[in-house]
Amino acid sequence: MNTLKAVLAASTMLSVVTTASAVDLEVTHWWTSGGEAAAVAEFAKAFDATGNKWVDGAIAGGGNTARPVMISRITGGDPMGATQFNHGQQAAELVEAGFMRDLTDLAEQEGWRDAIEPSSLLDSCTLDGKIYCVPVNIHSWEWLWLSNKAFEDAGVPVPTNWDEFVAAAPALEKAGKIPLAVGSQSWQIHGVFRVLLISLAGPEIYQKVYGEKDAEVAAGPEIAKIFKAADDARKMAARSNVQDWNQATNLVITDKAGGQIIGDWAQGDFQVAGEVAGEDYTCLPGLGVGKALETGGDAFYFPSVDDPEISSAQDELARVMLDPEVQVAFNLKKGSVPVRGDIDQSAANDCMKKGLAILEGGGAVPSQEQLMSPDIINQINDLMTEFFSTPSMTPEDAQQRFAGIIGSAS
Ligand code: BGC
Repeated sequence: MNTLKAVLAASTMLSVVTTASAVDLEVTHWWTSGGEAAAVAEFAKAFDATGNKWVDGAIAGGGNTARPVMISRITGGDPMGATQFNHGQQAAELVEAGFMRDLTDLAEQEGWRDAIEPSSLLDSCTLDGKIYCVPVNIHSWEWLWLSNKAFEDAGVPVPTNWDEFVAAAPALEKAGKIPLAVGSQSWQIHGVFRVLLISLAGPEIYQKVYGEKDAEVAAGPEIAKIFKAADDARKMAARSNVQDWNQATNLVITDKAGGQIIGDWAQGDFQVAGEVAGEDYTCLPGLGVGKALETGGDAFYFPSVDDPEISSAQDELARVMLDPEVQVAFNLKKGSVPVRGDIDQSAANDCMKKGLAILEGGGAVPSQEQLMSPDIINQINDLMTEFFSTPSMTPEDAQQRFAGIIGSAS
């Protein structure tokens, strides 16, 4: 099907769907920054246009705070209408225990297998051949966001890669800037490490360590180099005294920090602040060196409820989230890439275009959440937090413990 036909077919489908009666559907998620709120409002607007009502269940504090709340509500008999999780294994136990609706029939009617790219996103929703979630975006972690003015104030050129960034740190310090802004939550600190690993050691080493759980490679020389880079990063982040990721982004937006390593959701906040890529800030995918991006992001799951009206509103929301126009509107504000391969990406900003070029050039790698269990990821999160907050812990000690965790993962 050509692009125009696909758009028309899908939007006609959306407009002829009628709801038996209006339903209030609570949707939980952890999208609370300025950019995230602007993006989620696009979903809410499109769902409300079907006659139903989006009841916003935002949970502040980031994914690691929100997920336990979501899980205990579902297992405790107080399910929401729909909930966010990352692509991957975060909802696996809930699906196995029968808490989530099987969306296979809807997926077949709507042609999700043909429309969703890469197919690994739908695979992450699939258990025993049945589909349990709707992927809504592709987010990648492998980005360094730089404040152009911070470097101008420090009298040094804006770096074009990781080594130049590390070399510029003393000048930034001298000018009173924080070289690297990192929020103190453990997932953000591990985020810095995973980006150093994929970008500087390359996707093959990443696949060996996070994919195949090869403890020997994790203890070897390639990863030793990454712990050295992480040692540079923790020194550059020593004065970064913020908690949430968007507070760290704000240090870059206000030119108090040189840069931040975080996923492309940061673009939503740069946009809300009126910042322009290339003029006010610079984005370096792969830290200016790597040619691989994780295809992580978000998917929505729909808890099973014994109420046909709620089920039909859930179906409607699933359709809305994949509607071509809604996909474009939501993802432009979110800083992510649409999951449909059949829609127009021309409105993407310069950074998104760089990301798309890498993905289209064969640089897509599975996200860490797709490769590892939440338990192992949490153990690495904790180790990285300890490494960043304990200057006396050597990179060698940290690497040894890292290899131990990788070796214990199945
Ligand atoms: C989600 C993003 C979100 C980010 C920060 C990630 O886990 O995939 O959608 O913007 O967390 O809240």
